[in-house]
Amino acid sequence: MDLKIVLLGPPGSGKGTQTERLCAELGFTKISTGDLLREAVRNNTPLGVKAKGYMDSGKLVPNELVVDLVKEKLKAVKGGVILDGFPRSLEQAQLLDKFTKVDLVVDIVVNEDNLVKRLTMRRTCKDCSCVYHLEYNPPKVGDECDKCHGPLYQRSDDTERTVRERLNVYKESTLPLTKYYQEKGILKQVDGEGDIAEVYKRILKAIKAK
Ligand code: AP5
Repeated sequence: MDLKIVLLGPPGSGKGTQTERLCAELGFTKISTGDLLREAVRNNTPLGVKAKGYMDSGKLVPNELVVDLVKEKLKAVKGGVILDGFPRSLEQAQLLDKFTKVDLVVDIVVNEDNLVKRLTMRRTCKDCSCVYHLEYNPPKVGDECDKCHGPLYQRSDDTERTVRERLNVYKESTLPLTKYYQEKGILKQVDGEGDIAEVYKRILKAIKAK
């Protein structure tokens, strides 16, 4: 399967978690704008320096900082791709249409109270970006990643205040994408409630039906 898939959904809906699993099982490549931007911030690159303030306050980073990044990554990839966190506005979706054809958009739907709980108790690996949840998906050993033994940390935008702002930004800028992709006939909505394995099965089913 050489599909180009967009995983859509609010912050905390499980895009990163499910992208990791899907890429491992399907042999797809992950392109996560959030991970790429966080890496740039960590390495203090010119992109990271410009992006940091937007990210810490829960706002979207300007298009000129992310669109070319995705374009370059897509050019370098062969085979199936999962885009996690891009596009997240109508403008980004229209720009994406100019340089690639999206085959399927999976929209993960989760109730807002659950999103806040998921995000404020999330821990992320500093080295490989793998995500955990202190209650729903805890690491096996203390504050250490199961996969690479890297240290786990709490993202600076995972405080309740910033999470609320990110949800507002999602409603205003990203939610209209569901209509955009519905009209193109490539949107599949998946129930994102329930445990990680259940949601994974639903997404895989949606992909295999394509
Ligand atoms: P980004 O990193 O993309 O963050 P996000 O979209 O807010 O999504 P999250 O990573 O917070 O959540 P997720 O859906 O991946 O959930 P996860 O799997 O981790 O973006 C961060 C920032 O970068 C943005 O605010 C913006 O500033 C900037 N940015 C990025 N892309 C951009 C773009 N295209 N344009 C402009 N700016 C951009 O799961 C969350 C937690 O829940 C985890 O703890 C997990 O273990 C747990 N969990 C997952 N699934 C379940 C389940 N089924 N049951 C219980 N717990 C679960």
